[in-house]
Amino acid sequence: MCGIVGYVGPNSAYDYLIEGLFRLEYRGYDSAGVAIQNASGIDVRKKTGRVSQLAELVKEKPVQGNVGIGHTRWATHGEPSDTNSHPHVGGNGEVVLVHNGVIENYNQLRDQLRELGYVFHSATDTEVVAHLVAHALETELTLGANPESDQTYRTAVENALKRLKGTYGLAILFRDRPGLIIAARLGSPLVVGIGNKEHYLASDASPLVGYTEEVVYLSDHELAMLTADSLQLVHRDTGTQVPSIKFLEQSAQDMDLGEFEHYMLKEIFEQPTSIENALRGRLDDDEATAKFGGLNMDASRLRSIDRIVLTACGTSWHAAMVGEYLIEEFARIPVEVEYASELRYRNPPMSERTMVFAITQSGETADTLAAMRECKRKGHASLAICNVVGSSIAREADGGIYLHAGPEIGVASTKAFTSQVTVLTLLALFMGRLRHLSYPAGKRIINNLRDMPNKIQKTLECHARVKEVAEKYYRAQNFLYLGRQYNFPVALEGALKLKEISYIHAEGYPAAEMKHGPIALVDEDTPSVFVVPRCQIYPKVISNMEEVKARRGPVIAIACEGDDKVADIADDVIYVPDVDEYLQPLVTSVPLQLLAYHIAILRGCNVDRPRNLAKSVTVE
Ligand code: G6P
Repeated sequence: MCGIVGYVGPNSAYDYLIEGLFRLEYRGYDSAGVAIQNASGIDVRKKTGRVSQLAELVKEKPVQGNVGIGHTRWATHGEPSDTNSHPHVGGNGEVVLVHNGVIENYNQLRDQLRELGYVFHSATDTEVVAHLVAHALETELTLGANPESDQTYRTAVENALKRLKGTYGLAILFRDRPGLIIAARLGSPLVVGIGNKEHYLASDASPLVGYTEEVVYLSDHELAMLTADSLQLVHRDTGTQVPSIKFLEQSAQDMDLGEFEHYMLKEIFEQPTSIENALRGRLDDDEATAKFGGLNMDASRLRSIDRIVLTACGTSWHAAMVGEYLIEEFARIPVEVEYASELRYRNPPMSERTMVFAITQSGETADTLAAMRECKRKGHASLAICNVVGSSIAREADGGIYLHAGPEIGVASTKAFTSQVTVLTLLALFMGRLRHLSYPAGKRIINNLRDMPNKIQKTLECHARVKEVAEKYYRAQNFLYLGRQYNFPVALEGALKLKEISYIHAEGYPAAEMKHGPIALVDEDTPSVFVVPRCQIYPKVISNMEEVKARRGPVIAIACEGDDKVADIADDVIYVPDVDEYLQPLVTSVPLQLLAYHIAILRGCNVDRPRNLAKSVTVE
C-alpha cells in the first residue's frame, strides 16, 4: 500500500527510481511521482495513474540528478489526482518527501500549521508531515543549529516525528542539504540497499534485486541517514545502531514474466514448483512427520498447546480456514480462525497454552502485524507462516515457517494460497504426530504430499477447458461458489478471486447453507460453481446441486476425473485429479484461479492491477 524508493550515489537516480516504482506498483497504482535533486534544486514530477504515465511525463520533461525519492500511491486521504500525488513539498520547498501510511492526527496538525502560515495544496495527510518537518527545521535553524550539519536535519525530523500519531514510512530530501536522504519507519516497511558508494531505499526488497544483495531492514522508530558514502541508523530509544546487514535471496529472474502475459497466470502455473519448494527438506520419512527449522519451540512445549489461533486477512484467511480443518483432523487441537482486523481490537480469553499463527504472504499486512503483536504482548507464542523473508511479521514473530514461494507479484494471491495450505498440512501432520496420529497415517500423508507437485501439474491440464467455460459465462453479473468441508474455504477463495479481478459480484457459501438465503439469488442468469470432488459427504453436495438445477440455475462443477454422475447434472464440468480429501483444496483451487483469470481477461480487466486493490495492505 504505497511504495517508496530512494537513491543517493554516483549514478542517475531516476533510472533506479522508475524501475523500482514499476516493481513496487503492486502496492498501489493511483498515482506516481519522483523528486530529483541536482545543482539547481529539487525537481518534482508527479502524475495521476500508472507508473508508465509518470515515465511518459518524465520523457517530455526530463529530470536529472544523483539523488532522488519516488512514490507509487494507493490513495487513503484525498482522491487520486496530480495534486494529491507524492512527493509533497514542505515550507517554501526546503523539504520534499514521500510517505506510506496514515497520519491519524493530520487534521489537528494541519490547523496548527495553517495558523503558523503554512499553505496546503493537497487533501492528503502527507502534506502535513512535509510542513511539519519544514517547521521543525526552521525552528532548529532559528535556535542556531548548523545548516551544514546532518545532525540539524536529523533533529528536525525527530522532533517532527514526535508529533505524529499513526504510521509512516518516509523518505525525505532537503533543499539545503543536497545528497542527504532521511528515511524513517513506524509501521510501514522500509529497506536500505548498500551499493558501491551508493545507497538505495525501498518499501521492500524487490526494487533492489539486480542492484545490490546487501540490505538492512529498518525497524519501527528507526531513522536512516543515507548519503552516498555513509549509512547511519538511529533508534528513537536506543540511539545509534550498528546496521545488521542481510543478504537478498531473490534473483532478477524471479521477477520476469517469461512466456506469460500476466504475473497472475505465471504464478498459477508456478504452483507445482512453489508447492515443491514449500515441501523441500520438510518431509521426515523415518519419523513419518514434518520437520521445520524455525519453530523455535521444543516438543514438550508444543505438546502442551491446547488451542491454536490462526489469524490472517484476505486469501490468507481462507488458507487459515483450511488449516483449521487440517489441524483439528490430524492433531485434534481446537483451532480458531480470526480476521486479524477483528482480533487486534478484541480481547478473547486465551490461555497461556494458546499458540498463535499469523498467516501472511507479504508479512506486512498492518492488521495481521498488529494482531500478532497484541498476542505477543499477552505472552502467547506467536509464530508466522509467511512468504517474504525479512518482512516485518517474519522478523517480529517468535518463530515460523517460510513458504519459499518466490515473489508473488499479481495482486490476486494464487501460489501463496496453495503454499500456505501446503505448509498448514505439514504443520497439522507435525502437531498430529506429537499427539494422536499413527505412524502409518503419517506415512500416507507424507507420500501424498510428495506427489502433490505432480498432481498440480496434472490439474493445470484443465486450462483449455476452463477457458471454454469462461467464454460461456463471463457476461454473468452474479456468481455463487459452493462447497462443503475442506472445499468450503475453497468456495470462499474462488468467489474472492472472481470479485477481485473481474469486479463481478460473487458469494462463497457452504453448499448446504445456501438454502437459508442465497438460493433466493438463483436464476437462469446466475451460475453456481460447485466444488464437488469425491468426499465423505459427496452425495449431500450432489443433492445441493440438484436443488440449484431445480431452480434453473446454471451449474459449473469442479469434480474428480471420471465422475460421470456430476456430468449428468451440471451444465459444465471441469475435472481435477482425485486426491485424499484433506488435499483437495490444493487441486480444486487451481481451476477457480484460472476461471477468475479468464473471465477477467474476457471482460477487459487488468488482472495484475485490479482497481482499488493493493497487494500489501500496510494501513488498517
Ligand atoms: C491484500 C491482497 C490479498 C491478500 C491480503 C492479505 O488484500 O490483495 O491478495 O490476501 O492482502 O495479504 P497477506 O500479505 O497478509 O497475505
